Amino acid sequence: MAGVTGRVPLIAGNWKMNLDHLQAIAFVQKLAWTLKDAGHDYRETEVAIFPPFTDLRSVQTLISADKYEIEFGGQDLSQHDSGAYTGEVSGAFLAALESKYVLIGHSERRSYHAETDEVVAAKVQAALRHKLVPIICVGETAEDLEAFGPSAVPVKQLRDALAGVPADSEIVVAYEPVWAIGSGQAASPEQAEQVAAALRGLLGEVLSPETAAATRILYGGSVKAANIAGFLREPNVDGALVGGASLDLKEFSSIVRFRKHVGA
Ligand code: PGA
Repeated sequence: MAGVTGRVPLIAGNWKMNLDHLQAIAFVQKLAWTLKDAGHDYRETEVAIFPPFTDLRSVQTLISADKYEIEFGGQDLSQHDSGAYTGEVSGAFLAALESKYVLIGHSERRSYHAETDEVVAAKVQAALRHKLVPIICVGETAEDLEAFGPSAVPVKQLRDALAGVPADSEIVVAYEPVWAIGSGQAASPEQAEQVAAALRGLLGEVLSPETAAATRILYGGSVKAANIAGFLREPNVDGALVGGASLDLKEFSSIVRFRKHVGA
C-alpha cells in the first residue's frame, strides 16, 4: 500500500561488518518466517538487507530457493567494472547475484575510506550501468550542523552525486546525519522531514518533478522500533536505513511492521 504519495516505504537493514554467511542464512530465514507469521505484505512495506559481500551468494541462493520477498544488495561497489583493482567488487558481480540495490557513499565509506563526492558520483554511474538501484547516502556531521544547519551539506552531497544521472533514473536517497549514526541519538522527525523536503526539492530541480515525486527518501541514524513511526508519519520520509537495530531480529521485524504496532 503506497498511500497518498504513491511511494512504497522501504526498510533497509545495513549489517555493516557483522554476520558471516552461515549467520546470514540463519538470520534471513528467521526474518522471513517472523514476517510471514505476522502476515507481512511486502507490497505495503518493502524490506531489503545489506550483508557483507561474502554473504551475498548464500543470501541469494536462500532467497531464490525459498521464494522470499526480501530484497538485498551490497554495502558498496567499485566505480570500475573490472580490472586491476585489488579488493574491489564490481557492480556487474552484484547484478549477477540478483542484487536489486547497492548502498553508496555511506558516511563510514566517506570518512574511513576517503570517498569524495566525485567518487560517490562515479559509483552512482557504475550502479546505474549495471541496473542496480543506488541508495545514495548523504548527511551532515555535528560540526556541519552547527556551521551550516541541517540541509546545506546533504543537499550539496546529493547534487554532486547526481552529476550525469538521467532524469528518469530509479534511485533511493538516504539522509543519515553522521552524528545520529550509532549514537543512540536520532534526529527528530521534524528535522528529518525538513532535510528530506529539501532533498526532494533538489531532485525536482536536477532530475524532474516526476522523478522527485517517485523517489524514496529514507532516514537513517539510530532508528529503532520505538522511534520509527514518528519518521514515517512525515510526508517526505519514505522509510529507514537501519544499522544496529537491523541485527536484532525482533527489533528489525518490529521496525518493518511499523504500521501495526503504532496503528499508523
Ligand atoms: P545506526 O546506523 O542505525 O546503527 O545508527 C545507521 C547506518 O549507519 O546506516
